[in-house]
Amino acid sequence: MVDQIAFRNALACFASGVTVVTAPGDGQGPVGVTVSAFCSLSLDPPLILVCLDNRTGCIAQFLESGAGFTVNVLAADQHALSDAFAGPQTFDLHGHGFKAGATGAPILDGVAAALSCQTHAIHDGGDHRIVVGRVADVQVTRDKAPLVYFQSSYRGLSERP
Ligand SMILES: Cc1cc2nc3c(=O)[nH]c(=O)nc-3n(C[C@H](O)[C@H](O)[C@H](O)COP(=O)(O)O)c2cc1C
Repeated sequence: MVDQIAFRNALACFASGVTVVTAPGDGQGPVGVTVSAFCSLSLDPPLILVCLDNRTGCIAQFLESGAGFTVNVLAADQHALSDAFAGPQTFDLHGHGFKAGATGAPILDGVAAALSCQTHAIHDGGDHRIVVGRVADVQVTRDKAPLVYFQSSYRGLSERP
């Protein structure tokens, strides 16, 4: 049995970007959750995946087949946004500006990229669910540096060593 702290420490060595995954919500307004477990999956058809903790308050929004959601890839200056969406839902997107994307889910202002998706498949992943999204539309803000998460801290990209 692998030691949990050692396991977490090993995972912390893997640098990732940071996303906020949003959904239109179910009458109370849009929701969003900070997610670093985002991965490209397939080019044809265009698929991505995100891993959501089973205890995530708004997880039901993502589990219905065809549900719309957006993967918002955060820019380097958006660490406060990452923290804001790592807590309980407030249904007002923390006062942050957004517009509806192609599948109805919010695209947050100022992000480096946004992938508008529909839920394609759900897989069991231990205490998480693997949500596979089919990408319907993408938006990219050219030359926006990404927010990086490494060793439990936010970082920026440094030049090639
Ligand atoms: C940098 C960062 C990355 C995170 N990555 C994930 C992730 O990949 N999957 C996930 O389920 N939760 C992730 N979380 C935690 C969720 O954002 C957090 O548990 C969730 O927003 C809590 O929502 P709730 O209180 O409504 O359950 C991450 C948090 C931070 C700060």
